[in-house]
Amino acid sequence: MYRFFTLFLYRIDPEKAHYITMWCLMAFLKVPGARSLLKAIYGYQNKALQRSVAGIDFTNPVGLAAGFDKNGLYLNAMATLGFSHIEVGTITPRPQPGNPKPRLFRLVKSRALINRMGFNNDGVEVLASRLSKKRPEGLVVGANIGKNKDTPLEEATNDYLISFKRLYTLVDYFTVNVSSPNTPGLRSLQEKEPLTNLLSTLQLHNHASKPVFLKIAPDLTEQQLDEIVDIILETKLAGVIATNTTITRNNLKESPTEIDHIGAGGLSGRPVADMAVSVVKYLKQKSEDRFSIIGVGGIEDVISAKKHLVAGADLIQVYSGLIYTGPALVKLILRGLS
Ligand SMILES: Cc1cc2nc3c(=O)[nH]c(=O)nc-3n(C[C@H](O)[C@H](O)[C@H](O)COP(=O)(O)O)c2cc1C
Repeated sequence: MYRFFTLFLYRIDPEKAHYITMWCLMAFLKVPGARSLLKAIYGYQNKALQRSVAGIDFTNPVGLAAGFDKNGLYLNAMATLGFSHIEVGTITPRPQPGNPKPRLFRLVKSRALINRMGFNNDGVEVLASRLSKKRPEGLVVGANIGKNKDTPLEEATNDYLISFKRLYTLVDYFTVNVSSPNTPGLRSLQEKEPLTNLLSTLQLHNHASKPVFLKIAPDLTEQQLDEIVDIILETKLAGVIATNTTITRNNLKESPTEIDHIGAGGLSGRPVADMAVSVVKYLKQKSEDRFSIIGVGGIEDVISAKKHLVAGADLIQVYSGLIYTGPALVKLILRGLS
């Protein structure tokens, strides 16, 4: 059924396809009985899959990665697809349009995406008002926070702090995003001094000890990962989300000309899977269970999901896999894990 739908979807611009699909899903959910129907088709309950991570109870290990629901518009809709948690954002203090279009590209042969969205979002005030409304029962909501493009790097901490404070009572956990390749200079915040400053400032304001995760790139060296482990322990973070998109262009089936033509952006989907799993494995060894790990990157079926979990992930998240495998992805993974 989803394959049939993709015959139409893959003919249109990927960003438009995203909005059309979500519009259809939201419209369908207005029909009486639609929610129960979707839950019956895509939901999967098994008590054995429940877990507690960073002090939060999750109904299962599978979540929706950041970037899919940047503005908190789809919590109700995506909850019907079986996710235990949804990470909204990346959100910035002020709304911003993101990079010029086109900025999202499908690499169908490689089951991958390249994006240079650039944190297009409605801003923290609008997100806060949406998150204050009733949310689906049992759904864990995290906020992924970042900085505005035009905020100088030296003032970045203040941007993170604004969103952190505004959303503090509205979400279950925070993710500090310093790993998107599409905001100039952002990834330099992964370096020791700025990262320690940023995280310790947030923790100073974390009066109720809300879990804070750090989302990192898959392109870091072992030395950089070691530094990050030290910082996580020093600043008492709940854990790491590994990983964001990569700036490399390995393991692709499309021609180099096609890839060059697309230009800059972060690569996600199947080609990132091994890189992300290696980072999860490395962090698991170093963590000695002192912090949690959320694995994300190239999860598109139960095999790729298991690779992350076996490597040491406590939870997993998906984005690109949802585009290629379709709405049954969560159920497929959960049934396989059971
Ligand atoms: C179109 C698109 C937009 C994204 N936006 C964000 C974002 O705003 N913040 C973030 O932390 N990650 C963002 N990501 C990265 C994903 O959350 C995820 O870490 C990455 O895509 C790897 O997972 P995947 O292979 O399952 O897609 C985005 C990914 C895509 C494809």
